[in-house]
Amino acid sequence: MDCSSSSFLREYLSETNIREGLETSLVGRKICTFGILKSTNDHAWRLADEGAPEGTVVIAEEQTAGRGRFGRSWSSPPGMGIWCSIIFRPGLFPWEAPRMTMMAALAAARAIRASTGLVVSLKWPNDVLIEGRKICGILTELSADTDAVRFVITGIGLNVHQHEDDFPAALRDKATSLRMASDVPVSRIQVIRSLLSETEKAYLLMNTSGFAALRREIVSLSCVVGRAVSVRQRNRLYRGKVLDIDETGGLVLELAGGRIEHIISGEVQLV
Ligand code: BTN
Repeated sequence: MDCSSSSFLREYLSETNIREGLETSLVGRKICTFGILKSTNDHAWRLADEGAPEGTVVIAEEQTAGRGRFGRSWSSPPGMGIWCSIIFRPGLFPWEAPRMTMMAALAAARAIRASTGLVVSLKWPNDVLIEGRKICGILTELSADTDAVRFVITGIGLNVHQHEDDFPAALRDKATSLRMASDVPVSRIQVIRSLLSETEKAYLLMNTSGFAALRREIVSLSCVVGRAVSVRQRNRLYRGKVLDIDETGGLVLELAGGRIEHIISGEVQLV
């Protein structure tokens, strides 16, 4: 297994720096830091395939082919954010894996709040927003047999130091960073520690008590519950009002005409 470390810009994202003061026992038991990777999800996938333990974290200063959901690219310039992936080996069925995305989004929201005091919201299933702009996205990828998950890679992209001009033009009015949203200087190392610790808490609670234990907080932070939305899936478009997020993490949508649909994946737009 190849684990090397690197330094960059303002803070040195090394295993030693991150580990100092890190109060986790599972998430971060192994931390691999890199100056540059194509995608931390790809690297974590290789490590997981070679048998790396649950809780292994891969972090890069820069990604040259960072990706988001639906094959979109994820802007990951050097030193500007937290580009990391965590290996999990949860006892879930493959169809239950989407809840890992919401668990991680909740953990990221808690970490941002704890580090900066900023008010955050969650846009189902994977976005963390500040004042309606995206600050963090989660990409969950899984290796599974038909009825068992082998491992899950939870990729987290959190914008930290960008100014508006640092984002690609198409994202400038949609994306934000901790620097843009907060007056207080932010340390990536401190945010990473908080992110790993909140992820561990949420993951362990979900393992012992089920997704239902996170649901109330996810619903309370959601900016889509109670709102009219459209939900785009590969070959389908739903329009309706979001009534709730159900016990499995699905979106409960009331369609025009009153029919209720439980939707497990898709891209939501507020109408
Ligand atoms: C999305 O909002 O569509 C998900 C974005 C996920 C980006 C992160 S950055 C670290 C990890 N590596 C990747 O290539 N993607 C995820």
